[in-house]
Amino acid sequence: MKLSLLNILAASTPVLTLTNFQPQNQLQIPIQNQDSTMPNPHTLTQPNVLLSDVLGRDRSINTYAGLIRDVETVSTRLDTADSNSTVLAPLNSAIDALPGKPWEDQHEYNALGASAYDGDEGQERARRNIRRFVQAHVVPVSPWKEGERVRSLLDGDREIWWENKDGVMLLQPDGIEIQNVASKVGNGEVWIIKAVRKYA
Ligand SMILES: *[C@@H]1O[C@H](CO)[C@@H](O)[C@H](O)[C@H]1NC(C)=O
Repeated sequence: MKLSLLNILAASTPVLTLTNFQPQNQLQIPIQNQDSTMPNPHTLTQPNVLLSDVLGRDRSINTYAGLIRDVETVSTRLDTADSNSTVLAPLNSAIDALPGKPWEDQHEYNALGASAYDGDEGQERARRNIRRFVQAHVVPVSPWKEGERVRSLLDGDREIWWENKDGVMLLQPDGIEIQNVASKVGNGEVWIIKAVRKYA
């Protein structure tokens, strides 16, 4: 049985979707528990499963998984068998640690003031920022070899690569620690990263 992205995401805790988007409100992020019933992904490649099937499984990244749902081009890609991707999913705690929300841009606040995300135009701005955030964390390559320089789905993004340093996988050039490879499936892998990428 192949589950669709929406089924999976609907089963996870809904957070940060634009349908309940309230920029002025404090986002409630649930306590994160690793699901101990998950199979050990290090030993298991699931060839008949898609990224869209597994992204909602891990509660520690369900904020990012929820954001993907709002970006149709990316969620469609992850639901497509012949387009491989490596998803660099930031931990909920990493998104929580940002100075603002993923849809907030300090430059826009500076230019437009506190109402930058109000109204239709504000919503459109927020939507675009979420799209950029989501795109910057998906690489259109899998398997992704160590040292291989690639660009994310974000237009104009700089090159990134990863390296193994003393047994720790680091996303470069920012030196972001890759906590683990959470899933290996037919159209790619989900890697959990400990900090949000810096992208312009
Ligand atoms: C896509 O990923 C699968 C699973 O790892 C792999 O077998 C296949 O060779 C990859 N395809 C490309 C074009 O990289």
